[in-house]
Amino acid sequence: MKNIILFADTGIDDAIALVYALKSPEVNLIGVVSGYGNIEREKAFRNVEYLLELAGRTDIPVIAGATRPLSGEDPDFFPEIHGIEGLGPIDPPIPEERYANRTNFSKLFSLIKDHRNEVTIVNVGRCTSLAIAHYLSPEVMADVKETYVMGGAFNEPGNATEVAEANFFGDPIAAHYICQNAANLTIVPLNATRNALLTPREVNLIDARSDSPLEKLIKPILDFYYEVYQQLEPGISGTPQHDLAALMAALDISGLYEYSKREVTVEHEGTYAYGESIADFRPGTSNCFGPKCARIALSINQDIFVTNVLHVLTNES
Ligand code: RIB
Ligand code: CA
Repeated sequence: MKNIILFADTGIDDAIALVYALKSPEVNLIGVVSGYGNIEREKAFRNVEYLLELAGRTDIPVIAGATRPLSGEDPDFFPEIHGIEGLGPIDPPIPEERYANRTNFSKLFSLIKDHRNEVTIVNVGRCTSLAIAHYLSPEVMADVKETYVMGGAFNEPGNATEVAEANFFGDPIAAHYICQNAANLTIVPLNATRNALLTPREVNLIDARSDSPLEKLIKPILDFYYEVYQQLEPGISGTPQHDLAALMAALDISGLYEYSKREVTVEHEGTYAYGESIADFRPGTSNCFGPKCARIALSINQDIFVTNVLHVLTNES
């Protein structure tokens, strides 16, 4: 079992990753950092509180993350993809205002200090909050065992622009910093997460077996997400679970991914390729070694993905 701190921008696929984390016997969720991204920081924070409340796990600390990217620009939000409140059709009965101006980063550092070298960070939103944590306390962050990041697209179309994936595009300065500086880093890009699909049939199966308010949320939010994806990519067989796929990478599930190791940079100064993730995959190149090398999940085994997700979310474990 791993001690995991989830950094999220709690929209739909983040919520599914959170539900999985709460249900998996392999995960000891010790904290959640919730910042801007898919939606505003306060909504993202409120959504985590709501999901934890439904799960009866309000003992898990929620830490307020960043409100805007390191460039200082106003962020774009994505209600058309994640719903106005970030959870599709769900309107959580907690006002977002309750969480305004709540900052408690010291809690993050005490969690890491309490579990020295035994914390896995899984970042499934913009990299801003994680980069800020590194800037604020490199000494404490050096005690993190490993970091997993959902982001990027390598030699692959983006989803925010032609070349950039949304998490890296949302804050390429922070993404570049993390790719270059986080120790024991694994990146789970669109190359893999695009294929981490859950079909309506699988969602119905999960729903038929669900027996708690938290589990009952899965179908409405994924049905909403499915309709959105039918507009975005007509004919797609299911919804891509980007964030769940990144969380599952941290669980070392045998055969789930194929990895390559490369040094990764993120374009954060240019115009046309802003947010693009870059690594050297030219013929003749091979896995790199050393502190700047990141492990990149370039492909996913869909059967293993679906089998594992159904196992955990249909209460078989
Ligand atoms: O590109 C997919 C990522 O962007 C996911 O983390 C999704 O939640 C959005 O933040
Ligand atoms: Ca996310």
